[in-house]
Amino acid sequence: MLATSAPTTTTSLPSLHPLTYSAIPAPSLNPSFLSFSSSSSSSSSSSSSSYSYLSPLSFGLHSKTHVRINPKLKGLRVSCSKSEPLKVMISGAPASGKGTQCELIVQKFGLVHISTGDLLRDEVSSGTEIGNKAKEFMNAGKLVPDEIVTAMVTARLSRQDAKEKGWLLDGYPRSFAQAQTLEELNIRPDIYIVLDVPDEILIDRCVGRRLDPETGKIYHVKNFPPDSDEIKARLVTRADDTEEKVKSRLEIYKKNAAAISSTYTSITNKIDGNRSKEIIFKDIDSLLSQLQKDKTAKSVKPVFQAESRLNLASSSRDKWRGIPTRLNNVPHSREIRNYFYDDVLQATERAVNDGRTRLKVEINIPELNPEMDVYRIGTLMELVRVIALSFADDGKCVKVCVQGSMGEGALAGMPLQLAGTRKILEFMDWGDYGAMGTFIKIGSIGAKEVDEQDDMFILVAPQNAVGNCIIDDLKAMTDAAGNRPVILINPRLKDLPGSSGIMQTMGRDKRLEYAASFESCYFFRLLYYAGTQYPIMGAIRMTYPSVYELHKRVDEPSGKEKYIPLSTFTARPTIDEINDAFLGKPRNKDKKASGIWGFLSGVF
Ligand code: AP5
Repeated sequence: MLATSAPTTTTSLPSLHPLTYSAIPAPSLNPSFLSFSSSSSSSSSSSSSSYSYLSPLSFGLHSKTHVRINPKLKGLRVSCSKSEPLKVMISGAPASGKGTQCELIVQKFGLVHISTGDLLRDEVSSGTEIGNKAKEFMNAGKLVPDEIVTAMVTARLSRQDAKEKGWLLDGYPRSFAQAQTLEELNIRPDIYIVLDVPDEILIDRCVGRRLDPETGKIYHVKNFPPDSDEIKARLVTRADDTEEKVKSRLEIYKKNAAAISSTYTSITNKIDGNRSKEIIFKDIDSLLSQLQKDKTAKSVKPVFQAESRLNLASSSRDKWRGIPTRLNNVPHSREIRNYFYDDVLQATERAVNDGRTRLKVEINIPELNPEMDVYRIGTLMELVRVIALSFADDGKCVKVCVQGSMGEGALAGMPLQLAGTRKILEFMDWGDYGAMGTFIKIGSIGAKEVDEQDDMFILVAPQNAVGNCIIDDLKAMTDAAGNRPVILINPRLKDLPGSSGIMQTMGRDKRLEYAASFESCYFFRLLYYAGTQYPIMGAIRMTYPSVYELHKRVDEPSGKEKYIPLSTFTARPTIDEINDAFLGKPRNKDKKASGIWGFLSGVF
C-alpha cells in the first residue's frame, strides 16, 4: 500500500509560537481602507496633510544607493550607504508619559513623531469625516476602528520625511491585529519601548493633564505647570481625560498589551515610567544612542551579497523540517508563514531553473484558503513578494500581475478576494534597494502587459468570477510571454456557472485544457474530515520535482502533535488513494470516492 520511497522527515519540528485559536480575532488587511482619503490642516509633525495610498512604501534603508553591477550576475551587489535612520515604537498605558518622552526624543534625535492620538485629534478638531467618525470612539475612551487608524499611520509612514529622518511611532499598534498589519507590511521598529507606570498614578496624571493648543506642549496642573499666565490661560483639557474614561482606556490597554508585546519580544525594553521625566529620558536616550551607533557601524561597509539580500525567506534552504504543527492556530505565526514562503520559493526556483515556463503554486494553509474565514490577503501578498524579490535578486525583471476589473457595464467587477490587492502591492515595502520600478513591476493580466524587458510573470490568484472568465486574457498573456516563465499563485480557474458573457471565444474543454497546462511546482493542502475544517487529519505536499507526499497528523501523549509520512504518489492522489492510505488498505483504483475523505473529491 505504501508507495515507492517514503519522504524524509525529521522528528525535530520547528518550534512555533503558540497562539490561541479563537480568542484573538484574525486580523485582515481590509482593502477598503486603501480607498479612503482625507486631509488635515494641522502643521504638526505628526499630522498628515493628505493620505496618499499610491506611492510605494519603502521603510528600509531609503538613503542607500544601490548600484547594480550586472543584473545577471547572481547576488553581487554593491551598496554605498549612509546610516539608516532610527525606527522607534513607544507604548504604555494612557498617561504613562509617551507624549512627554516623545517631545524629548524628537528634540534629541530629530525623528518624525507619529502619534495616532494627535493625528486623530487633528481630524476631530478639523471636523473631517474621519474626525467625526473617530470622535465618538475617542470620547467614549474606546479604540477607533482599525481601518481608520491603520490607513492614517501607513500613509504617514510612507512620507519622505519619515523615510529620511526615521520615525517615532506613538500609540500604534494598540491591538494584536494592528501589530500584525505592520508585520505584514514589513514595518518593524528597531526598538519597542514600554513605559511602565502604576494605575493609581496614571489616573492622577490624566485628570491633571493640560494641553497648549498653540504649541502642542503637554502640561500638568501639579507636575508641570506652565511658566506664564498667558500660556496657562489658553490651556485646554482633553475630552477623554475624565477619571471614568481613563479607567476604560486603561482596561482596553491592559487587554491588548500582552498580545502586542508578543510581536516585539526580542526588541522590547520596559522602562520604569514612575520617575522624573528627565531620568526616564536618560534611559531612553542611552538606548537610542547605542542603537544609532550600531546602525552607523553597520552601514559603513559596502555590501557584497552572495545570497538573497532581503532575508525574507529563512536561511534554512534545502533542509526540510517536516510539516509545521499548530496549523489551525490563526493568525499563523511569522515562523509558520516564513516556513511556507521558503518551501514555495525553493520549489519555484527549481522549476524555473529547470526551464519550466507554465507553473502554478497551490497552497491552502488556513490563511491562504479563501474558503475559510481566516483568509488573509496580506499573507498572499507576502508570499508573492518573497518569490518576486528572490527572482529579482537573480537579476530577473519580474512583473507581478493582478487581474483588473472584468466585464462591462453593470457586470464589471472583480472577485472579492482581489479587491484592493493591486493597491496593497503598490504600497508594500519592496526592499531597500530600489527593486520596485526597476526589477519588480506591477501590472494587470493580458497581452498588453507583456513588455520586452520582462523576464517572467507572477500572477496573483487569477480567477474566474461569476459571469466573467479570466482565461481569454490569461491565454493572450501567456501567448505573448512565449517561453518566459509565468507562475500562477493560487489560481482558481475552474468553471463557474456563468451568465451569457462567459466563454465567448473558447469552449469549456479548451478552457479546462488550458488551465491544466500549468504544471504544479508546489502543492500543499490540509485534509479534514468531510464537511469540517477541524481537526486537521493530515496534509498533502508536493514540491517540484518531487512526488506528492501524504502525511497523517497525530496527537502525541505529551499534548503535542506531529505529522507522519503515510505514502507517496507520482501524481496527485485521488480521494480513494487518500482514503486507502489512511485506512491502511492496499490501493484500489476502481473504488468510488467515499468514506471520511469523500468530500475532497470536489477539491481534486
Ligand atoms: P492617545 O492620545 O494616544 O492617548 P493615550 O495612549 O491614552 O495616551 P495619552 O496621550 O493619554 O498619554 P501619554 O502616555 O502620551 O502621556 P503624556 O505624556 O500626555 O490616544 C487617544 C485616543 O485616540 C485613544 O483613547 C483612542 O480612542 C484613539 N487612538 C489612538 N491610537 C489608536 C489606535 N492605534 N487604534 C485605535 N484607537 C486609537 O502624559 C500624561 C500626563 O502626565 C501629562 O500631564 C504629563 O505632563 C504628565 N507626565 C508625563 N510624564 C510624567 C512624569 N514622568 N512624572 C509626572 N508626570 C508626568
